[in-house]
Amino acid sequence: MAKNKILSGMRPTGRLHIGHLSVLENWKKLQEEYSCFFFSADWHALTTSFEETGEIKKNTLEMVADWLAVGLDPEKSVIFTQSDIMEHAELHLLFSMIIPLSWLERVPTYKDQVQQFREQGKDIMTYGFLGYPLLQAADILVYRADAVPVGEDQLPHLELCREVARRFNHMYGRSVFPEPRALLAKVSLLPGIDSRKMSKSYANDIGIFTGTDDLKKKVNSMITDPARIRKNDPGHPEVCVVHKYHSIYSPGELAGIEDQCRKGEIGCVACKRIIQSSLDRVLAPLREKRKEITSRPGFVEEVLADGASRARREAAETMRMVREAMRI
Ligand code: TRP
Ligand code: SF4
Repeated sequence: MAKNKILSGMRPTGRLHIGHLSVLENWKKLQEEYSCFFFSADWHALTTSFEETGEIKKNTLEMVADWLAVGLDPEKSVIFTQSDIMEHAELHLLFSMIIPLSWLERVPTYKDQVQQFREQGKDIMTYGFLGYPLLQAADILVYRADAVPVGEDQLPHLELCREVARRFNHMYGRSVFPEPRALLAKVSLLPGIDSRKMSKSYANDIGIFTGTDDLKKKVNSMITDPARIRKNDPGHPEVCVVHKYHSIYSPGELAGIEDQCRKGEIGCVACKRIIQSSLDRVLAPLREKRKEITSRPGFVEEVLADGASRARREAAETMRMVREAMRI
C-alpha cells in the first residue's frame, strides 16, 4: 500500500530560531515513515507583507537551507516553494467559489489578527488575508494529504480545511479529498531569553546557527530567579528561563541542577555556563552542516527545482480529478 501523505509548510520569515528546532525534529522523524511534502509558503507571506516583497525569495532560500542543515532530506521528502506550483492557486480559486464567506469570517485567528495589526497601525483588510486559511486548505488538499503536522495555533485552519474537503466531496459526489488529520507533536515551548514567547520581533530569540560568542551573550542575558541576590540564596528553578533550557538541553544534569539551585549550592553564573555548553553541543554540528550547505552554490535552488517537479506531478493529478468532478 502507498505510504500515507504528510504535508506541512512555513512562511519564509528569515533565519530560524531554536524554537523551530522541535518542529523540524518532528518533520525529520516523519520523513522516515511517510511520504512527506514540505514547502515554503511564500504566497502566504504576501498576505501581510505585500508592500515589501524584496526579501521573500531570499528568505525562502535561507529557510530551506536551514531545513536541510537540520536534517530534512531531499531524497526522502519533497521540498518545494508554493509559488512554483500553480495548482495551489487554481484550487484556491475553485474553493473560493464554493465556500461561504461566513466560514472564513468566523475563523478565530482572523478577527484576532486584524485587531493585532490595527493596534500596530496597519490595516490589512485584503481579500487575500481573509482567504489565508482557504489558500492553506488548497495547499493541503492539492496533495490529498492524510495528515498535517501543525502547532496548536493552526488547528482552526485545519478544521476549516476538513470542512472544505467535506463540502467539495459532498457537492460533486466524488471523494476526491481525504479529510486530513492534525498531527499535534509535543512541541517544546521554549521561552525567549526574556521569558516572553520566543520571537524574532522581540529580539529575544536564539538562532539555530548562532556562533559560540553570540550564544554566550544570549545565555548571559537570560532571566533567572529574581529572588536570588547572593550566590547562596535558595533558588526557584520553576521561574527561571535557564532552567527551562536545561530541561530540554541538559536532561542528564537536570535533577542535580534543580537540587543545587534550591539549596543555593550553585550560582547562576555557573549554571549558565553549563547551559551554554549544552546548547553548544547540540548546535555545533548543525552550524557545520549549515556551512557546508552554504558552500555549495546553487544547491538549495536545485533541491527546490527537483521538489517542484515532484510536487507538480502530484498536484496535477489532483487537479485532473477536481476538474472532472466539477465538469470544468
Ligand atoms: N499557516 C501556516 C503557518 O503560519 C503556514 C502554512 C501555509 C501551512 N500553508 C500550510 C502549514 C499548509 C501547514 C499546511 O505556520
Ligand atoms: Fe536558574 Fe540556574 Fe540560577 Fe537556579 S541556579 S535560578 S536554575 S540560573
